[in-house]
Amino acid sequence: MADNEKQKYYITTPIYYPSGNPHIGHCYTTIACDCVARMKRMQGYDVMFLTGTDEHGQKIEKKAQEAGTTPKAYVDDIVVNFKKLWARLGISYDRYVRTTDDYHIETVQNIFTKLYKDGWIYKSEYKGKYCTPCESFWTDSQLVDGKCPDCGREVTDASEEAYFFKLSHFAPKLKELLLDEEKNFLNPKSRVNEMIHNFIDPGLQDLCVSRTSFSWGIPVTFDDKHIVYVWLDALTNYISALGFMNDTYNDYEKYWPADAHVMAKEIVRFHSLIWPSILMALGEPLPERIFGHGWITFGDGGKMSKSKGNVIDPFVLCDRYGVDALRFHLLREMVFGSDMPYSNEMMFNRYNSDLANDLGNLVSRTVAMTNKYFGGTLPVEKEFTDADNDLLEQLDQLPDYVSENYGNLHFSDALERIFRVIARTNKYIDENEPWKLAKDDSMKPRLAAVLYNLLDSIRRVTILLTPVMPHTAPLIYEQIGAGEDITGWYDSAKKHLLPADVTVKAGPVLFPRIDVEKELKELEALAPQKEEAPSDLEPLKELTKYDNFAALDLRAVKVLECENVPKSDKLLKFKVDDGFGERQVLSGIAKYYKPEELIGKTLAMIVNLEPRKMMGFESNGMILSVKHGDGYKVIEFPDTVKPGSDIS
Ligand code: MSP
Repeated sequence: MADNEKQKYYITTPIYYPSGNPHIGHCYTTIACDCVARMKRMQGYDVMFLTGTDEHGQKIEKKAQEAGTTPKAYVDDIVVNFKKLWARLGISYDRYVRTTDDYHIETVQNIFTKLYKDGWIYKSEYKGKYCTPCESFWTDSQLVDGKCPDCGREVTDASEEAYFFKLSHFAPKLKELLLDEEKNFLNPKSRVNEMIHNFIDPGLQDLCVSRTSFSWGIPVTFDDKHIVYVWLDALTNYISALGFMNDTYNDYEKYWPADAHVMAKEIVRFHSLIWPSILMALGEPLPERIFGHGWITFGDGGKMSKSKGNVIDPFVLCDRYGVDALRFHLLREMVFGSDMPYSNEMMFNRYNSDLANDLGNLVSRTVAMTNKYFGGTLPVEKEFTDADNDLLEQLDQLPDYVSENYGNLHFSDALERIFRVIARTNKYIDENEPWKLAKDDSMKPRLAAVLYNLLDSIRRVTILLTPVMPHTAPLIYEQIGAGEDITGWYDSAKKHLLPADVTVKAGPVLFPRIDVEKELKELEALAPQKEEAPSDLEPLKELTKYDNFAALDLRAVKVLECENVPKSDKLLKFKVDDGFGERQVLSGIAKYYKPEELIGKTLAMIVNLEPRKMMGFESNGMILSVKHGDGYKVIEFPDTVKPGSDIS
């Protein structure tokens, strides 16, 4: 079929915030889309699979500030990590959109201007809660105990000039869209009621689409103290990446509307209410379908849990168990629409039962028997019987079921069914007992038929597993002697495509068994140390120049006198010998030492701090001490260290 005759299929992940590195949750959505994209390609579709990063906004601006860098430099680094992870996971995306890309900026600016000219965007005032030190607006629902969620300080009512999009206008049309049974716009269906009851029925508010209180965003061309506020910028990626209103790409006509926007449930609202409204205002077609899956949750309250060996660095998991094991785990265990608590233990158990025992063993047993009984090449003469029919029928029913379920993101149903057929195939071995047939020369044609059926079953299920386990499939084909010409998607529906005199080739164990207890312990030992750090440790400070250290004069000093400061339960007053003379210094360690304990000791001190007055006494420097339990311990040197000795 020529390229231009192919049916197109356009699938997208959300564009992720590069405010931190990607984690297993981002992996799920991306692997899910990859699986669908791979299947559609195998089915002959002209696929566009888009992913990317959502790089503007106040949070990124702040993170960059904290890291002492520019927002662009900050996101550049993290985008590298996203791309590395996608490469590691075998994600076959066709295009990667960054909202800082010039073409995207151009599209957003053009859309904003068009919507303004057409009257869908108007200028008004944004009212919210404002935290002055953070220079941030918050909505009531974002506040924590009525305070700024970032710094915990009081917020005040404030307003700023802003542009608004007439979202409220679209409420009736949105309701109609969501309730259209035939169109089946939003999946799973349960989210339809949520959208209608929680957002549309209570009354849709117009949407604030610009801000003036921070600057990391796309400027509004005709009013450049404003930047375009997040969702208009972010959602537009799905069409900017195709070249809508920009000249960089030229695929809008070909791929739009999207066939599937995939995301987790928390952003379904933006995709099923705001996005269609923007498109309606632009007069453009709406996406076919929106999929809102559940969350992968981590330990109590959705937080990352370090207990139970739950090290969930995807790179570590891929390195130890293989990329396909991780892909399989996520797609097999996550039931579409529901949440799934992440558990390595669950992954190991399923790996052992499905991949090591059922699939891995089926392949290695079948190849081993073909080698043993026929020297690796089956004879052409075979005797098929009715005893083969049940297995063949189950295989026949599989491709349609899998295709439909992968396409609807019901991966766990599809995989469950595939593995039922794999179990059925294993049972076929036990039913036909090849080891008995091998003992009787007259049964050779039957034995050849049994092994041929087994090899061909493996071929047929492997085709259907390819979108989930793209790295494993070629390894299996190599072992069972299946060439490219018989491993296309639709070849799964056809029986007996392997050559009649097929030759097998034993290979490495596909899925070595996992010792669950041992692996859980080893993963626990790999848990990042910083997670284990007691929470009372001060965070590490930023790097500083050597000169800042060199400017401090650190010396050993001998305590000549020491007494409590009157009316202070904290301060001790010292007279010390600094090697050049005597000086007075105060230290807040009265709770941890009696004065007489310290007299005669040689301690560490910063001697060139500017004098400070405390409780009426001048302090010339600072005695160094280290946090110890609930208190402090002075840093002590042996008696033989001369006062005034340099500490470096
Ligand atoms: N930038 C917005 C999306 C804009 S799309 C036009 C955003 N970014 S995000 O980095 O927070 O990504 C959210 C998405 O990442 C979720 O919708 C989901 O696809 C994926 N996931 C992030 N954590 C996840 C889990 N714990 N579980 C499942 N999916 C998760 O929102």
